[in-house]
Amino acid sequence: MDIAKIAQELEHTGYIVLAKPLVDKLLADLFVRCHDDDPARFHAAEVGRGVAKKRIGAIRSDVINWLDAGNSTDQAFLVCMEELRLGLNAALYLGLFDYECHYAIYGEGDGYAKHSDVLQGKKNRVLTTVLYLNEDWQASDGGELVVFEATGKSVIATVNPTFGTMIIFLSESFPHEVLLSHNTRRSIAGWFRVSGS
Ligand code: OGA
Ligand code: MN
Repeated sequence: MDIAKIAQELEHTGYIVLAKPLVDKLLADLFVRCHDDDPARFHAAEVGRGVAKKRIGAIRSDVINWLDAGNSTDQAFLVCMEELRLGLNAALYLGLFDYECHYAIYGEGDGYAKHSDVLQGKKNRVLTTVLYLNEDWQASDGGELVVFEATGKSVIATVNPTFGTMIIFLSESFPHEVLLSHNTRRSIAGWFRVSGS
């Protein structure tokens, strides 16, 4: 990953879309891991946290699985993100403290309504990353990530979830939405956090 370039873009525009920051072998392994054939791993995503945490299919209908540092593929991805965390802290003094991430699978007809990644009353999510794992994604498959400027009124970027693409953005500055997917849509969504909750 070109951490200097990422840092520069985050400083200037607050987000960056990278065409293929990870090596092919890792992407292929992550793709294999992002399958819910083991029903014990993936579960319905929930909205909110703590007692407010609930499953609201109308807002968000994907299934997720948090990465497991005990799995060698997951660990290889976490190592890349740790390198990014340290590099960004050195370049931008962000004080990123840790990183949490999950695989997500959206089935046909699934999406995620416009939202902010900063949980209500919490400031701990600073930087969002989403890595896409979809070979041969077609325009007719939908499932684009639509990124809005801070007020949520105008669109600043529309990202196709094509294999290997990664978007990184300041969590607080960009409301975003996943348009309805017409095909199985695989990704890893993650958040660098500062400490404090
Ligand atoms: C999320 C999210 C975007 C995407 O999981 O919070 O916004 O493109 N994901 O999958
Ligand atoms: Mn989000």
